Amino acid sequence: MEKKKRFFTIGEAAKRCDVATSTLRFYESKGLIASIRTHGNQRRYHAATLRTISVIRAAQKIGISLEEIKDALATLPDNRQPNKKDWERLSKQWAATLDQKINEMQRLRDNLDTCIGCGCLSLKSCRIFNPNDEIAAHGEGPRFLIEGFGDNAE
Ligand code: FES
Repeated sequence: MEKKKRFFTIGEAAKRCDVATSTLRFYESKGLIASIRTHGNQRRYHAATLRTISVIRAAQKIGISLEEIKDALATLPDNRQPNKKDWERLSKQWAATLDQKINEMQRLRDNLDTCIGCGCLSLKSCRIFNPNDEIAAHGEGPRFLIEGFGDNAE
């Protein structure tokens, strides 16, 4: 039986995860993954890191920011790499995040409908700048003059 490979060069890891080597260096510079160095100062990635790279890529594909991914990976005990159960949990958590983003985008899209053909870009009445008339929640009176919201309509 063939012995399972435990460490991979950057080229091997990049090929296995279908990313550029520069992407792995970037992930590493952001603290998302780590490598060990050989005596010749070459990177070696542990086999478990390949799963982390796949998790990062999958999360990025669904629009999760690197900061959010880093925070999620930091929740793993003892800095360990995500296992199958972790991925189940993270993907469930990110599905909820994605739902929130979809709802927000849908709301923005609905608000954009009111702008089509308008062109006012008014901080007071354009729903992109003032969804649900939030400026009114600041109180009565000329809030733009009192609080200096200003209006960028020209
Ligand atoms: S541009 Fe948005 S309502 Fe006028």
